[in-house]
Amino acid sequence: MIKLIVDFYNRKVVRSQKARWNYQYAKGKWDGLKNERELERQGFIKDYFLNYGNKSGSLIEFGCGFGVLPDVIFQKKHYSHYVGVDISDYIIQKIQPLADARHVFEIGDFENYHFKEKYDYIVFNECINYSKDIPKLLSDCRDYGLKKGGLFIISVHKFKRSPEIWEAIHDNLTVLETRTIVKNKNTWQVEILKWKD
Ligand SMILES: C[S@@+](CC[C@H](N)C(=O)[O-])C[C@H]1O[C@@H](n2cnc3c(N)ncnc32)[C@H](O)[C@@H]1O
Repeated sequence: MIKLIVDFYNRKVVRSQKARWNYQYAKGKWDGLKNERELERQGFIKDYFLNYGNKSGSLIEFGCGFGVLPDVIFQKKHYSHYVGVDISDYIIQKIQPLADARHVFEIGDFENYHFKEKYDYIVFNECINYSKDIPKLLSDCRDYGLKKGGLFIISVHKFKRSPEIWEAIHDNLTVLETRTIVKNKNTWQVEILKWKD
């Protein structure tokens, strides 16, 4: 009972993002992310990985959710190692069975993430739209988390604010390839990008 009250307070009063995501995942609101219709746009991320940059490099995914990208799409192959980061401790606990020597899933907020190493690819998979400061987020990634020559892969679904989100991304990053997919009235745009020289 006390836990329920604390969760409610954190969600409604403190407006904690972690509490909000935990609640929504527990209610099954995001179960659709595991559906077939999501796989094609996730597949673009793998295509980009295989077509650009270090084809056997390391990858960090922010907003990893159910771990669909490493588990279903990559089937745990190709990259040297993978780190999945999500603000929801509920979902990170759920996907721990996917962890092994090459896969780490950890709780973290990309707005103040402490990189312990640098990666060949940094993926924002349907989550950069929750950032309060995209230019700072991306420059922090470049300074502390991206290897020289490393690449960003970013997926954003189409909604009212998506044009301004892409504008903020493109202020600092050059697009190498962009793909758009429409499924069941949803539109996603997935891009691979490098830091502007
Ligand atoms: C729409 S879901 C996408 C999940 C998964 N990438 C997919 O495409 O199936 C957004 C995810 O971003 C996570 N998230 C939101 N804000 C975050 C933040 N500041 N830091 C890390 N993860 C965040 C949420 O917990 C959620 O798992």
